[in-house]
Amino acid sequence: MIFLIGYMGSGKSTIAKRLSENLQCTYIEMDEEIERREGMTIPEIFANHGESFFRAMESQLLKELEGQLIVSTGGGVLLSAENRETLAGHVVVYLEASFQTIEERLAQSGNRPLWSGDLVEKQKRFNQRKPLYEQVATETIQVDNKNPEMIVEEIIFCL
Ligand code: S3P
Repeated sequence: MIFLIGYMGSGKSTIAKRLSENLQCTYIEMDEEIERREGMTIPEIFANHGESFFRAMESQLLKELEGQLIVSTGGGVLLSAENRETLAGHVVVYLEASFQTIEERLAQSGNRPLWSGDLVEKQKRFNQRKPLYEQVATETIQVDNKNPEMIVEEIIFCL
């Protein structure tokens, strides 16, 4: 399995789809699968059941994954130590984006419950996540100012 990790807005879903076309294998978008299972959008799951319910769904799904898959994870999947362990031994590609890039990309996004609060809070959450991605990544791709084609090419080069 190849896991794509990184902050919300780092491009995991787009890259997973393109990579799967290039490598001719299946991809899964974890958030989409959770939405499908629950019959609700991510914001609705957070609003109706809370973040801990969502995290439990996320961890459960992660444990179920098997086979030759490209997995686009949610940005908070590594908050759980158990999930970090689940990823060990797999190819884990970290799409590393600067806070500025994320901010620009998510400015219009209304579907991310944890892209909330003021800029200080957003920066704080971003800074807290960064070491987790760095700890688990087997490959790191800088994505600022790059188009999807360039990013996919770089990933394939280092596989
Ligand atoms: C989250 C990221 C989201 C989604 C949920 C929580 C996070 O996924 O799983 O809103 O905690 O960073 P994306 O990274 O695909 O936006």
